[in-house]
Amino acid sequence: MFSRGTLLSLAYLLTAVLAGTWNECDSYSGKSFLSGFNHMAIPDPTHGRVNYVSEATALKKNLTFAKGDTLILRADHTTKLSASGPGRDSFRLMSKKTYTNHVSVWNVRHMPRGCGTWPALWEFGSNWPAHGEVDVVEGVNGHGTNQMTLHTTSGCTMGGSRKMSGHSVQTNCDVAANGNSGCSVLDKNANSYGLAFNNNGGGFYAMERSNSGVKVWFWPRHAKGIPADVAKGAKKINTDKWGTPAAHFPATSCNMAKHFGAHNIVINLSLCGDWAGQQSIYNQDGCPGSCVDNVNNNPGGFANAYFDIAWLKIYQ
Ligand SMILES: *[C@@H]1O[C@H](CO)[C@@H](O)[C@H](O)[C@H]1NC(C)=O
Ligand SMILES: *[C@@H]1O[C@H](CO)[C@@H](O)[C@H](O)[C@H]1NC(C)=O
Repeated sequence: MFSRGTLLSLAYLLTAVLAGTWNECDSYSGKSFLSGFNHMAIPDPTHGRVNYVSEATALKKNLTFAKGDTLILRADHTTKLSASGPGRDSFRLMSKKTYTNHVSVWNVRHMPRGCGTWPALWEFGSNWPAHGEVDVVEGVNGHGTNQMTLHTTSGCTMGGSRKMSGHSVQTNCDVAANGNSGCSVLDKNANSYGLAFNNNGGGFYAMERSNSGVKVWFWPRHAKGIPADVAKGAKKINTDKWGTPAAHFPATSCNMAKHFGAHNIVINLSLCGDWAGQQSIYNQDGCPGSCVDNVNNNPGGFANAYFDIAWLKIYQ
């Protein structure tokens, strides 16, 4: 006979053994991105020189293109803008479904780059910042490496032992601290962002959100040791076998249930705005003149401002 205690310890053992095991619940590729995500024609909250367009407009102008296992999302790169008119056409897609604890795996072939670009693959809750935000991929002006960040209400900090290959930039995730820069970690891998990422054929980003925190991994295309379940987009994955993440946000000083709610997944490309458009950052990143002038007058500078995404899989 099993006592209640034995059953409980068995349950704990099982949970511990299977902690990293997740099953696919959603798979987005090509046209299923269009059915699973909404294009949101809303103003950019971070003051970008962008005009997020509707799905109908994006398809008509071929800014959004979905076929087979390809999803292209791009900014307009042919139109000169009037300084007094709206910003450059771009995209913001948000998943219809929300997710709490989950793993997302992105297979990306190309990301937007170039002066003034600020692309992101991220997720947040309808009540921001109470429900938190996780930025899986983010950067500006096609420069540097990938930045991974949490944004929360106060009381979520990153300390203690963090097993990660990336480099911590800030440790307080509170949006009210550090001008909402969040608790960021910079990837060390030069191929994790921008031109180098694109020249290498892209790669895989993965994010695990559980009660024990958030982890983000990156594997460049063709790298040795890409886990087989990641590379083939397996139905069942085991994150315990994925090795040291690029970023580790442990729950040690951050109660996950308290700071994170149900999240929608977002794919967007802002131009200029609060980060990419800051004059000093823009110039330090090797971009001449002013960001807004470049967006208005240099459409050809946005020829590489596009995502090419093979698939996104979500596991629960
Ligand atoms: C688009 O992405 C940037 C970068 O993460 C973000 O700061 C900005 O608020 C986003 N805009 C919208 C409308 O989601
Ligand atoms: C739309 O964009 C896709 C992807 O870049 C391209 O293959 C296709 O030819 C374009 N269609 C038109 C009508 O320009």
